[in-house]
Amino acid sequence: MTGKPGARKDIEAHTVASQRTKEFQMATNRRTLLKGAAALAALPVGLRASQAAAQSTPEATPVGTPMGTPVGTPAAPLVVGTPEASLEVFSWWTSGGEAAGLEQIFAAFSAGSPSVSIVNAAVAGGAGSNAQAALQTRLTGGQAPDSWQSHLGRELQSRYVDPGYCQPLTDLFAEQGWNEAFPQGVLDQLSVGGVPYVVPVGNHRGNVLFYNRALMESNGITVGETMSIDEFFAAADVLQAAGIPAIALGGRDTFASVQLFENTLLGTLGADAYNALWNDPSMWSSDGVTAAIEAFARMLGYLNPDQAALTWDGAADLVGQGTAGFTSMGDWAYGDFVSKGTEANVGWVTHPGSAGTFVAVIDGFTLPVGAPNPVNAANWLRTAGSVAAQTAFAPFKGCIPARTDVDASGFNEYLQWSAADFGTAVSVPSIAHGTAVTPQVQQAISDATVQFLVSPDVETYRVTIQQAAEDDAAS
Ligand code: GAL
Repeated sequence: MTGKPGARKDIEAHTVASQRTKEFQMATNRRTLLKGAAALAALPVGLRASQAAAQSTPEATPVGTPMGTPVGTPAAPLVVGTPEASLEVFSWWTSGGEAAGLEQIFAAFSAGSPSVSIVNAAVAGGAGSNAQAALQTRLTGGQAPDSWQSHLGRELQSRYVDPGYCQPLTDLFAEQGWNEAFPQGVLDQLSVGGVPYVVPVGNHRGNVLFYNRALMESNGITVGETMSIDEFFAAADVLQAAGIPAIALGGRDTFASVQLFENTLLGTLGADAYNALWNDPSMWSSDGVTAAIEAFARMLGYLNPDQAALTWDGAADLVGQGTAGFTSMGDWAYGDFVSKGTEANVGWVTHPGSAGTFVAVIDGFTLPVGAPNPVNAANWLRTAGSVAAQTAFAPFKGCIPARTDVDASGFNEYLQWSAADFGTAVSVPSIAHGTAVTPQVQQAISDATVQFLVSPDVETYRVTIQQAAEDDAAS
């Protein structure tokens, strides 16, 4: 099986954007993300078959006991100053794996600040759909929590840094040695104008196709190390003929549909043409984009009938339970399988056509201007960026640590696959998770995608997206 490898008006902005994309890729290609730690770099690709069971139980990861040793990073204190009484942390991590992962960071924080009462201000809704709106209301009303979750890239800049809601983290990064601990591509994405504004905790791969192993076997479908789009549709036809929904989609979470689209866009275009879209809106008129939208439209013929009622994790559950064949999702879905005890039922491959690429979806936490509990807020970030917390968080959440000096050899098979691929694949940004486009374009694509699910008109969808990208570039 072979997988397909994978104008802004303001010229300066265009150049900066191109440069950042290029640097992000170069950093990945140079494998600077694996600097310092032979641990990750040494991982063989495709560890699939052998090690499944051993490490797939997150309980095996005690909080505060890192599996890895920081390499070349001086020990820095995780608690500084006299703590205030409480700490409020805002996120959208409420699903099984998300909440379990967050609890791990809370536990690591509490280990150092036992007297502090943590207020978990999580707002449910995959990819932050509800949380981001609720947070904006709080921020504009001067009611910032002590720290909130943000993706890196455009979302961080447009929603939080440009309006002046975030404090620079330059001193904290120097104190904690984070300029060495995070790969250059990630440092670029967490900085605005060269100044860091968010502490990344975990790095997810967005372009994963999870499948139910037993269903594949009983239907005579073999999923190899990669899958082409044609191979995917051949498998989908077999499942459909057997009366099984081939694709589980949680359409109640709009981001899930956008993610199915963006993964198909990447799988059809390859990394270079996919990345060209972010810097030149005219690229949305290419034949490749039309072909990608056609493939997306075709996929809609294989969905679970209850897609409009399910969230992303509800859809993943269909695959975990064996009532649907595939779901295209980020590797937080793996954390969800783990939380439900179904991970052994599930296999994975990169989304059809997208082998060799890694849609990087990286979460971090900010330090607000006017944090109500500034000592705790800074200590929360020290903890979130630590080897101990990132090591504990990853297996529950379903992600690899954002740091590269973590010994991942004790991680489960899935995370080792993701870590190894991150070291070799071309990293690309995400529409659905706010790194590739501005919030305005992201919203326009979300709206158009909702409409597309109701009425899949390829040209209308393409033109709507191109128009949004052009309007944004001209603004
Ligand atoms: C992403 C986020 C992940 C995961 C997912 C589903 O935006 O980066 O951490 O939580 O949403 O909610």
